[in-house]
Amino acid sequence: MSDKAAPTVAQKGLQNIVVGQSKLSLVNGTEGKLIYAGYKIEDLAEHATFEEVIFLLWNLRLPHKDELETLRRQLAVQMHLSPELISIMKRLPVKATPMAVLRTVVSALSLWDPDADVNTPDENKRKARQLTAKVPTIVAAWERIRNGKAPIDPNPDLTLAANFLYMLKGEMPNEKEVAVMDAYLVLLSEHGMNASTFSARVTTSTLSDMYSAITTAIGTLKGAAHGGANEEAMRMFFEIGSANKVEKWFEDNVKTGKKRVMGMGHRVYKALDPRAAVLNKKAKEMAEATGNMQWYDLASKLEQTARADEDFIKKNLYANVDYYSAIALYTIGIPMDQFTPLFAIARIPGWSAHVIEQWADNRLIRPDVDYVGPMDLPWVPIEKR
Ligand code: ACO
Repeated sequence: MSDKAAPTVAQKGLQNIVVGQSKLSLVNGTEGKLIYAGYKIEDLAEHATFEEVIFLLWNLRLPHKDELETLRRQLAVQMHLSPELISIMKRLPVKATPMAVLRTVVSALSLWDPDADVNTPDENKRKARQLTAKVPTIVAAWERIRNGKAPIDPNPDLTLAANFLYMLKGEMPNEKEVAVMDAYLVLLSEHGMNASTFSARVTTSTLSDMYSAITTAIGTLKGAAHGGANEEAMRMFFEIGSANKVEKWFEDNVKTGKKRVMGMGHRVYKALDPRAAVLNKKAKEMAEATGNMQWYDLASKLEQTARADEDFIKKNLYANVDYYSAIALYTIGIPMDQFTPLFAIARIPGWSAHVIEQWADNRLIRPDVDYVGPMDLPWVPIEKR
């Protein structure tokens, strides 16, 4: 036990603990509001491209036309992967999950960066651009490699959203798909002190480098309680099968405490997650455009069933960002186990902005823990234990 005064017992899971200040985003969980550097998420999802939001997160203001085009070009030329990196990816086991591959390849990227450990603001901005540009290519390349296909080179004339879909499917995406992808990337690019952002800031606070921080964040995002919930939500929709089976499934699984509704509930939002509201609309539009309403109708019915349940009402459990994003992504043809890597693509700008903000005013993040184990045990030699 430490020799200072006994620490106060923190809230389990650090709930409601403020760990610092940030200019990047405001998450108001009571009112269901999300603001990036002063701008409402609804406005950004409606009007901004992913590149515009990336500029906003890295500069805390919206870009002028020429600044936006410069950033788009800088990102587009950085999207290319080296033959060495592709060759590493080709040697990975094809059964490896896309999130594990992403975590490994992002970590490997640092090995070819001679300035990986130079942590000046300019160097960190360069690394932020490089990671934001290369991660979509890594995700798309892995999808092709694991299916025995050659990765497709990025097209420098496209935006990140369009390029990702192009590299994934090998054909030019239509406008609707790009618009949904852009909105998705905008909506998920930043979110206060969530678990993966916190882990990136903890890594940075030890004076470790940007690649390490982003690798840490990817590992944290992977969990089913965080970014992994979008894939789990889609698996749940498949398990249920159709809208008319929702009520029975809910009674048999959720009411009995066997399962949670994946994509519902949130540590901070005790009202509807504003991102879920926008994604609900986008998922519906996409489903209507493809003429397949099965999954949207099922999700909508499950949300209504859950929201009518007294436990869900009492505990303020609403759909979160992962709920309708699962339907939107599935409808534009993203494989289920690529949903969480897509979340990572969206969040790299936010994570990297937090890394840069942490460097600007750093202090080692090192909380305390209450020791509750035994004390003063006598030493017993190994042969006598
Ligand atoms: N379905 C059913 N019950 C739930 C759900 C759910 N999705 N979420 C929370 N609850 C219940 C819990 O059983 C618990 O009930 P109890 O008090 O009777 O034991 C109560 O609500 C509080 O749950 P906690 O797990 O303590 O809440 P916490 O704030 O720690 O967890 C979390 C938040 C992890 C998101 C949780 O709501 C959950 O597991 N949701 C499903 C997974 C998910 O969608 N994750 C994505 C979150 S958004 C993101 O990270 C991008």
